[in-house]
Amino acid sequence: MTNLHAGILGTGHSYPEGILTNEDLAKLVDTSDEWITTRTGIKQRRKAASDEYTSLFAVRAGRQAIERARLDPSDIDLLLCATVSPDQILPSTGCIIQAELGTNNAAAMDIVAACSGFIYGLTLADSMIRTGQIRHALVIGAEVLTQYVDYTDRKTCVLFGDGAGAAVLGPVDAGRGILSSKIRSDGRYEEQLYSPGGGTRRRPTPETLAAGDHFFKMKGNELFKVAVRSMADISKELLERARITADDIDLFIPHQANQRITEAVADRLHVPLEKVYSNIAVHGNTSSASIPIALDECVESGRIKAGDLVLMTSFGGGVTWGGAVLRW
Ligand code: COA
Repeated sequence: MTNLHAGILGTGHSYPEGILTNEDLAKLVDTSDEWITTRTGIKQRRKAASDEYTSLFAVRAGRQAIERARLDPSDIDLLLCATVSPDQILPSTGCIIQAELGTNNAAAMDIVAACSGFIYGLTLADSMIRTGQIRHALVIGAEVLTQYVDYTDRKTCVLFGDGAGAAVLGPVDAGRGILSSKIRSDGRYEEQLYSPGGGTRRRPTPETLAAGDHFFKMKGNELFKVAVRSMADISKELLERARITADDIDLFIPHQANQRITEAVADRLHVPLEKVYSNIAVHGNTSSASIPIALDECVESGRIKAGDLVLMTSFGGGVTWGGAVLRW
């Protein structure tokens, strides 16, 4: 083991111009702005146009993160794209992004861990930097989820939005950067949030397409409870491993799934709401992009300052969950 430490050197984000409001959705399904706002906190979400695809937003976010890290694309050794809405099956969206960005010295690949994908990427990049295997990593969370949303199913179609966020990781001084991180999954909960069609198990046919097998299916109620419990428990463990308490946290960035989930997790951790970042009202749930978009918004607005202690935690289909504590 070396005594290298990894931290975030630059961030970026991007999303489509198209906006889908609660009022727009109320014209498609039996719902209302009042229901969506009180049950989820969401007022609008971004929606890609039919000619916009995942890597388009990922490239913009990634380029911004590299520039802000004051690096050259050739300095990136590892490019991880967390996504459940890839451009295509082969090659990976990571490789497509690599070609666009010119990060030609990197190994590029995708991570499929749903809403926890960015935290998965952060944790893997942290480990590889700390062991000296690589020096710089670009971790991107990017989604065009609205492609997989069934706009006849009011239980899911109100939740999801599109966008991308990115972070460049590299070596930092001891005591800064990632102080603790952890990722977990439990495949026994597969059917709480899944998209059964389109792969080799339920192959794409005109019938599976017509039946909407490629759309997201969700047991929202059950997922809600597992999400709160998993994010709260792993956060407590990460705080302990970083040898700090919830009182020390300056900023809490949970995955933006539902404002009620965010508040329930904060309550369990005894983190006051002033320290909790929320952009769910304007973005909805952007899956793997949610944490890096939120992080970059905090950087841009000055909400996050050098030396701040930041707690991030996520939860998603799989089910997957994870978190990280950072000294900014
Ligand atoms: N508009 C109006 N009514 C709706 C609705 C909508 N968009 N969606 C569901 N309802 C109805 C249901 O049909 C149900 O009606 P019924 O009692 O007549 O059957 C009622 O509202 C209550 O449904 P329920 O599912 O119990 O609501 P809820 O308070 O649990 O909220 C979610 C639903 C989806 C918002 C909530 O469960 C949730 O956010 N879960 C987590 C989902 C998530 O974050 N997934 C991604 C994980 S990363």
